[in-house]
Amino acid sequence: MIPTLAWTPEGVRFIDQTKLPLEESYVLATTYEQVAEVIVTMVVRGAPAIGVSAAYGVALGVLHTKAATAKEFAPEFERICARLAGTRPTAVNLFWAIDRMKRLFADLLASGASLGKIKEKILAEAHAMYEEDIAACKTMGAFGGALLPREGGVLTHCNAGALATCGYGTALGVIRSAVEQGKRIHVYADETRPFLQGARLTAWELMADGIPTTVICDNMAASLMRAGRIQAVVVGADRIAANGDVANKIGTYNVAILAKEHGIPFYVAAPWSTIDLATATGEAIPIEERPAVEVTHHGGKQLTPPGVGICNPAFDVTPAKYVTAIITERGVLRGPYGESLKEMELAAKTIPPSETWLYEDAEALASVKQGLKESGEGKSVYRGSFAKLTRK
Ligand code: MRU
Repeated sequence: MIPTLAWTPEGVRFIDQTKLPLEESYVLATTYEQVAEVIVTMVVRGAPAIGVSAAYGVALGVLHTKAATAKEFAPEFERICARLAGTRPTAVNLFWAIDRMKRLFADLLASGASLGKIKEKILAEAHAMYEEDIAACKTMGAFGGALLPREGGVLTHCNAGALATCGYGTALGVIRSAVEQGKRIHVYADETRPFLQGARLTAWELMADGIPTTVICDNMAASLMRAGRIQAVVVGADRIAANGDVANKIGTYNVAILAKEHGIPFYVAAPWSTIDLATATGEAIPIEERPAVEVTHHGGKQLTPPGVGICNPAFDVTPAKYVTAIITERGVLRGPYGESLKEMELAAKTIPPSETWLYEDAEALASVKQGLKESGEGKSVYRGSFAKLTRK
């Protein structure tokens, strides 16, 4: 498996995504400040990977404190969380992970746990998030894989793969699963200017898996669609608002409009930690503005005349109306997303956690059942319209 990030006795080891694909090198972060730096500089990137990295950052901060007691440590814990939360604003997984750590810390503090116990529990929580992320990718992969055609071209934008998660990937997990199901998929990877996540990272990891891949410049998608070479689009997400609007890598919106115009399904694959029911619509999602140098320079070489105006928003928002389905580890959601997201969340709260999986169609159900059997997780299975959950 691609080692996006790994806990070691010295700290967190990250594959350096700024160097791929030409160089496979690693960065070791031994303090929470270094984890924050690694997130800002995009050594690690991708919403789920950022979330879990921040969780390990919190763990490093707790493990290295010089405080003598849990109470004495509390203000420092707030500072650690604030530093990590200040790294990148759009991917909600970052805030989801930090909030989860804050809740755990508050519970432990209230229960009178010792600082030693807190260290142990916080690290265990980061490990749990890591494992959950891989499991979520595998499950959404099975759902989404069933939606892809038996054969054909699938366009993806940016990198929503193993490198953007703790392993397997969201959008690329869907593609991997379809290939594992025997589907003959040819991937078209948008190069994804300016950081080139598609050209560098998606191409690298799909080639490592032997999945046929062609890199295209971002401005080629329309003509490929028109030529009948793209049968589906699948992308990841950094934040999905309560109405189903999707923030993802800049240029995703263009692709969604093109897909609609050409009658091609546009799927978004994301774990539930990317869904932000507290944000009503995409308009309220903060969009990160990255440094101008990412646009003006490439590989240290200047591309633009000095002093020219530069605009570098890292993400855009695709309105929900362009999204054919949202693929999550809880099931596949269809519009109107304002309703289906709310119902899914309610189901997850009201049905015991081991039984919250909802399945949209027979093929997805069969493949997930098989996957659960293989992984030994004998979860109960619900098959359901989201409006009415009926146990089968
Ligand atoms: O700026 P990045 O590289 O962190 O942006 C990543 C994306 O936009 C991904 O598509 C998204 O985070 C989903 S990753 C599973």
